[in-house]
Amino acid sequence: MAILNIIVEGDPRLRQKALKIKRVDAGVRRLAEDMYETMIAAPGIGLAAPQVGVLLRLITIDVPDDYFEEGAPGASLTLINPEIVKATGTQIEPAEGCLSIPHWIGDVPRAERVVVKARDLDFREVRIRAEGMVARALQHEIDHLDGVLFTDRVVDKSTLKYLPPKPDGRPSAKEKVLAE
Ligand code: NI
Repeated sequence: MAILNIIVEGDPRLRQKALKIKRVDAGVRRLAEDMYETMIAAPGIGLAAPQVGVLLRLITIDVPDDYFEEGAPGASLTLINPEIVKATGTQIEPAEGCLSIPHWIGDVPRAERVVVKARDLDFREVRIRAEGMVARALQHEIDHLDGVLFTDRVVDKSTLKYLPPKPDGRPSAKEKVLAE
């Protein structure tokens, strides 16, 4: 496995529409493993292939249990060609961040619950039901596949905040919690 370079805002690849994956080969498996390792090392709770410069519809998510709300179940997922097939309710907290827009956070209204249709690494169709933070992460990562960044979805621009990097270059506790 390898840790991949995460590209940042300004790179045109973050604004392109990623292509559907037609089959899972060794290259796709390798990419999924490397993305997962890259996400954990960042550290972050989600990553989409365009963030490592690969324009394919592949995302990884790792939201621990009790992440933002006590008792909320987490999820660890690798999804191919994910699509939101149902979205209900609304949520605004917590503020969102992105590994490709380092040090910035902002409030993004998202659906509270989603149903996502996707394929797993055996290319079998799966349906994921998620709410809260996992639903937020899924919506954030699926946006990346269409060239959409969280800052596009910040309605109240006064909530966009810059958190200065710590002297050691590691993300702050707040940033770590939010990075997708
Ligand atoms: Ni992101």
